[in-house]
Amino acid sequence: MSHIDMLEETVATLVDGQRGILAADESGGTIAKRFATIGLDSTEKNRRDYRAALLSCKGLGECVSGVILFEETLGQKDAEGQPLPEVAASQGIVPGIKVDKGKGPLPGAPGDMITYGLDGLSERLQQYKKQGARFAKWREVYPIGHHNPTGLGLTANAEMLARYAAVCQAEGVVPIVEPEVLMNGGHDIERSAVVNERVWHSVFHALHQHGVILELMLLKPSMVTPGAEAETADPEQVAEYTLRSLRRTVPAAVPGINFLSGGQGPEEATANLNAMNQQGGGPWQLSFSYGRALQEPALAAWQGRPENVEAAQEALLKRSRMNHLAMLGRYRETLE
Ligand code: 13P
Repeated sequence: MSHIDMLEETVATLVDGQRGILAADESGGTIAKRFATIGLDSTEKNRRDYRAALLSCKGLGECVSGVILFEETLGQKDAEGQPLPEVAASQGIVPGIKVDKGKGPLPGAPGDMITYGLDGLSERLQQYKKQGARFAKWREVYPIGHHNPTGLGLTANAEMLARYAAVCQAEGVVPIVEPEVLMNGGHDIERSAVVNERVWHSVFHALHQHGVILELMLLKPSMVTPGAEAETADPEQVAEYTLRSLRRTVPAAVPGINFLSGGQGPEEATANLNAMNQQGGGPWQLSFSYGRALQEPALAAWQGRPENVEAAQEALLKRSRMNHLAMLGRYRETLE
């Protein structure tokens, strides 16, 4: 199969009008923080048991078309010896892989960040493909401040995303381009809209410059919301602002937009996605690629105990179903 055929097949599976993506790619530090909320140590076995429970959840494949894994998970096996990427694939869920290597300060742009990991990316992708990965994710992070993001921050981060996406497509791996504008801060929704629009504009400019095929990638943006320390906005308002900014900056050639949840509560993230689809959505499919908003109730139900695996899976399935309905604009709070 040619690389273009592979890319087309993966996009068609991921963007099927019905399903979204589960982000289960927390890095070592992040998963340790999540486990700490249930008083659990982040050991290799605990991480494997948790992720095996998520991926083997019966019925998950009806609402979830892809799962983003961390490198370690790609090489792990469940208790019966089946590789975890295969556990996902056997449910019709495409395995994906987070390929960035974390972030640090961007020199010359105080307050801005930059993500690492381009060196050797082609070779790593070839290995990940052998382990079953068909798509990848790379996250750039933009804190909002009085002076941030700076012009340099916008250009440098967009350049990283575009270079990563071009390498992925050259290897036949679908890139998910994730520019995350952080919710931290007391800014209002107007400010969030201005920043998100600048970010998306700069990212698509760079994607064009690097010859990335827009039909064969996905965008994973933040929603346009007020800062976490400001008063929250209702779903209709979040939907209006987010759609307006996306329509101004994201070409219709992009097949799908899968939002991150970024600290929104599980029900909040569902209601916001639902409102966007009720307001007519866009030329793109609007779906989810949530981490916390899908996993939080499952993790709380699990508590690190084998006897709770079923309850954890039930919680995951419920959030996945609610978000599947939100994709179709058919979610109602009364279904919770
Ligand atoms: P959240 O939905 O928890 O923001 O995670 C999504 C993700 O993949 C962040 O990189």
